[in-house]
Amino acid sequence: MSFDASPPAVAGLMAGTQLDRSLFHKSIPILAARFLPSKLGSLRKSEAMRGMVMDLPRLRTVEPDPTNPTGATKLVLLKASSEEEIPNPTREFLNAESEGLVPYTIELGYDYWNADDLIQAVVPEDLRDRSPTGFASTGHIAHINLKDEYLPYKHLIGQIILDKNAAIRTVVNKLDTIDNQFRFFKMELLAGDPDYVVEHVEADCRFTFDFTQVYWNSRLHTEHERVANLFSPADVVVDVFAGVGPFAIPAAKKGCAVLANDLNPQSAKYLEINVENNRVSSAVRVSCLDGREFIRTAAAGLIAHPLPAYTGPKKSKTQEAADQRRAQKLRPSSPTPAGPLRNRIAHFVMNLPDSALQFLDAYRGILCTPGTREVYPDDASLPMIHCHCFTREIDPAAAEADILQRASEKLGRKLTDYSLHLVRSVAPNKEMYCISFKLPSEVAFEERV
Ligand SMILES: C[S@@+](CC[C@H](N)C(=O)[O-])C[C@H]1O[C@@H](n2cnc3c(N)ncnc32)[C@H](O)[C@@H]1O
Repeated sequence: MSFDASPPAVAGLMAGTQLDRSLFHKSIPILAARFLPSKLGSLRKSEAMRGMVMDLPRLRTVEPDPTNPTGATKLVLLKASSEEEIPNPTREFLNAESEGLVPYTIELGYDYWNADDLIQAVVPEDLRDRSPTGFASTGHIAHINLKDEYLPYKHLIGQIILDKNAAIRTVVNKLDTIDNQFRFFKMELLAGDPDYVVEHVEADCRFTFDFTQVYWNSRLHTEHERVANLFSPADVVVDVFAGVGPFAIPAAKKGCAVLANDLNPQSAKYLEINVENNRVSSAVRVSCLDGREFIRTAAAGLIAHPLPAYTGPKKSKTQEAADQRRAQKLRPSSPTPAGPLRNRIAHFVMNLPDSALQFLDAYRGILCTPGTREVYPDDASLPMIHCHCFTREIDPAAAEADILQRASEKLGRKLTDYSLHLVRSVAPNKEMYCISFKLPSEVAFEERV
């Protein structure tokens, strides 16, 4: 015998935006068997009781007996609503072992069901199969992408997501695909606080930003981690499209010195805040320039104004305090010799997949300024470029050919030595890749006209 514990369909019973939680109520009349606690063991072992005890998710099967508050008897909930539904062997076992059958009502309410169940209940039947129960979260904000047919129920759906997820304070619907220059979404509030400044933790770094004004994509965390793992701790990393710092700050924490740039003044503002909050100010220089100008000036700028020497990975506050205490004890103290200032770029990161390939021409002649030859004496010393891009080619070989052709065209020479990494499928006919290659010396030292 099976019992329907799904929530009542309340679609159409709620006026527009107000979620009436009291409508989610269901009574399921069943039978319970009264048992002495000492007999519960034999019940569990009994073949005759197999499949007869109620097994609804998140519900206890043995309940206190309201007629016996001292606990001398318990009620075992049965999968039957009348005696006729109980098979003979079970009835015989219950006659012999229990203290009798009693009617019992299971009461289910809003708190019982999960968000999936509740959302199914507020949308009309024909929309249930594909109803939007999933959401991504960034800090305290849950964001969903509702299809048009669900828009009439958007506030109800938002409220349910808010109610059922303790870490969420704000639920928004993303209004369009990203098409603005700074790559952030327009969004509308569905439920909760209209507070869009989030605190998000990724790779042990704390990021603060206004989700309505800057780009952030939590789905990129493995890519952020993959690229950061390519850096050696003493490297100088140049992040051309840095956003609020998901490459730059983990890199600085592992010891890298970083030039981090973003044209969106809001991104640059939060990048500064994040640099400070993660205590890597001495290793990160923030700028707010167009990527092309930034690429052209980064190498010469770094030679003129080098970044501090490598001093090891960023220590936690407690580690730092312990080191200070130890240093105070060790007198006379000899200062640790500092390494050389860092003036050579080891990596450029370019995560603006929509158009980063078009910026590759900016590398032509970047090392054609006086004094750069000494800093980049041979091919091995030239920087790596990690350039993210989209392609409409789904077949890997066709995707590679497409990306290679576009990159080579902008660099002014055919790339022969490169690696290609598939980051993720963005849409059914759109893939995101990262092409990595050492900047060819012919490109870096090309005479500028
Ligand atoms: C796809 S986001 C990547 C941000 C960050 N690196 C990440 O992985 O989350 C691209 C960034 O490039 C910035 N941007 C767009 N056009 C730019 C340009 N011409 N020059 C510099 N930054 C630009 C945007 O503001 C955005 O923050």
